[in-house]
Amino acid sequence: TGHFTYDPGFGSTAATKSAITYIDGDQGVLLYRGYPIEQLAEKSSFLEVAYLLLNGELPKQAEFASFEHQITHHTMMHESLKNFFQGFHHNAHPMAMLAASVASLSAFYHDDLDVDNPEDRKLAAIRLIAKMPTIAAAAYRYSIGWPMRYPRNNLEYVTRFLHMMFEVPSEPLQLNPVAAKALDLLFILHADHEQNASTSTVRLVGSTGANPYASIAAGITALWGPAHGGANEAVLKMLEEIGTPDKVETAVKRAKDKNDNFRLMGFGHRVYKNFDPRAKIIREMCHKVLGELGVNDPLLDVAMKLEEAALKDEYFVERKLYPNVDFYSGIIYKALGIPTEMFTVMFAIARTAGWIAHWIEQHETPGARIGRPRQVYTGSAPRDFVPADKR
Ligand code: CMC
Repeated sequence: TGHFTYDPGFGSTAATKSAITYIDGDQGVLLYRGYPIEQLAEKSSFLEVAYLLLNGELPKQAEFASFEHQITHHTMMHESLKNFFQGFHHNAHPMAMLAASVASLSAFYHDDLDVDNPEDRKLAAIRLIAKMPTIAAAAYRYSIGWPMRYPRNNLEYVTRFLHMMFEVPSEPLQLNPVAAKALDLLFILHADHEQNASTSTVRLVGSTGANPYASIAAGITALWGPAHGGANEAVLKMLEEIGTPDKVETAVKRAKDKNDNFRLMGFGHRVYKNFDPRAKIIREMCHKVLGELGVNDPLLDVAMKLEEAALKDEYFVERKLYPNVDFYSGIIYKALGIPTEMFTVMFAIARTAGWIAHWIEQHETPGARIGRPRQVYTGSAPRDFVPADKR
């Protein structure tokens, strides 16, 4: 039985209409609300982009001031969440702590859970964007046994986050402005990407009427996998494993071998078949950041060699496999002193803006139905139950 279109991995099914992000995979075009990613990367800030994704327009100065004020006044996480953290093993992965903590927010903030109320939805959006860096930094510090830092609300979004991550009492943090700028740029590039696996997950969970924190927590867990947001962590581990440029050829050989599960992490994309416009921007930024921070990372040599080798290899050319956004992001995160296990957490902070914009759009769409995929059944034909002694 079954009269449904079989579309494994949703390669050709549009599950929703959306006015947020546009991608042309063949041309390498990415627009947020109509604005090219290149222009936003150069001229905007992450918080402004978050406003744009949520509201559809770039904010006027007063609108931005009000938005930033609201975000800033929701940066604290509930003090009891600290107790929640205490329950984790000290070497828990920060993504596990992030997913669990964000899901738990619905137990702390009951007053914005009416998903049909636009004001409630807005408050939840503000809380999520505001608290995500606080929770992320807390997860990191817990994992290394450092006391958590409260958010400094006299700082702006990205700088505040870096302080929560790295500041120690009575020692002012010497922050290179290049570091904050680089992180802000990475957040802009990761803020949204239409119906990727995690955003589709948020929408599917959201379609049941689940609360915003539950919906975003589901997005976080979907992001974790190495085929999606986990790729940035996997790229760095891969580069470390390869170790030196002379080992690159062997890695490329393995990636082509169909009997070997090894893939070149940070290569390939379901939608981009010529180049990933985000990778282009990041590649440039990567060299700039390393130069200005005076970091001499041998892994960059491995990365360059790998890129070069893959780009001229028939296997990769035929299959249109180019470096994606996560090929270079890990090297920048590393240069900023962010540990490898935190890379996907970084992605999650940025993508929260996109997830919540999609979740809100979904609830603003009249007549939206619960997501309910069908299947092509491949199991047994009807048969009679056999008692245990006759099997
Ligand atoms: N290394 C080696 N071979 C690859 C790779 C790779 N990274 N990616 C795809 N292929 C091959 C694949 O084996 C297949 O070959 P064949 O046609 O001979 O069977 C062909 O290319 C098509 O691959 P696919 O798996 O059908 O493509 P997909 O659209 O389902 O998967 C992808 C896209 C991104 C999951 C995949 O390219 C991949 O696993 N890449 C590595 C992980 C990665 O970097 N992910 C981050 C994506 S961008 C950020 C994000 O989404 O979060």
